[in-house]
Amino acid sequence: MAWLEIRDLKAFYHGTEVLHGLDLRVDEGDFVAVIGSNGAGKTTLLRSISRLIAVQGSILFGGQDMVRSRPRDCVRQGIVHCPEGRLLFPEMTVLQNLMMGAFLRRDTDGVRQDLERVYDYLPTLANRKNQWAATLSGGEQQMVAIGRAIMGHPRLLTLDEPSFGLAPLVVNAIFEVIKRLNAEGVTILLVEQNASLALEFSRFAYVLEEGRIVDEGLSIGLSTKKSILQAYLGMD
Ligand SMILES: Nc1ncnc2c1ncn2[C@@H]1O[C@H](COP(=O)(O)OP(=O)(O)OP(=O)(O)O)[C@@H](O)[C@H]1O
Ligand SMILES: [Mg+2]
Repeated sequence: MAWLEIRDLKAFYHGTEVLHGLDLRVDEGDFVAVIGSNGAGKTTLLRSISRLIAVQGSILFGGQDMVRSRPRDCVRQGIVHCPEGRLLFPEMTVLQNLMMGAFLRRDTDGVRQDLERVYDYLPTLANRKNQWAATLSGGEQQMVAIGRAIMGHPRLLTLDEPSFGLAPLVVNAIFEVIKRLNAEGVTILLVEQNASLALEFSRFAYVLEEGRIVDEGLSIGLSTKKSILQAYLGMD
């Protein structure tokens, strides 16, 4: 059995089904991506895993069924979600936003170590720790969102379109941080519209279309597959 194992997952908004029975697996230490265009259901999938919306089916994490868990149980289990659109508190400082990621933790020493880790991975944030989040650039805001997720001490980090709206250089810097987290043992589940980026950094990927997984495979294989090139990588 995989570490995170999703079987026949259905998700609903106001009774309307938007995920139609997904199967997906993530092994411990892996870097898995889900690519899909606008409205495919990527955010819904991550919100399902973090138990933010109503679902049917099974979500097993470390052998434990999470379907009836609350969001805070997921965080305690080590599932930390870095949401679409960053969702920072604009009138709080960088440091206050980072500390929000640790609000369930009682291990003061561990929290201090993780804050050092954030500043080591993302030195810009150390220089800006007392700056209001509202005054940061988009790239810096994404760095805070990732830093806040690190403060939750993730075992599984789910990332919702971290590249969205950012310039290529900033995107690369952010993906290097994600790669480093993965190399240091954090399991990554990334959803992205930017297929070339997602396939470059992940090991394995799923393709989501209209609430269904339509393809899956090693990322390197998918990145040269004709149907993927045509639909997601802008090739004829
Ligand atoms: N709060 C909501 N209420 C009702 N329907 C919703 C809600 N959020 C999303 N949906 C619908 O669910 C489907 C999947 O949306 P979702 O946001 O998961 O897609 P996505 O792949 O993340 O898209 P994007 O790339 O634009 O972020 C869409 O048809 C969308 O209109
Ligand atoms: Mg989305």
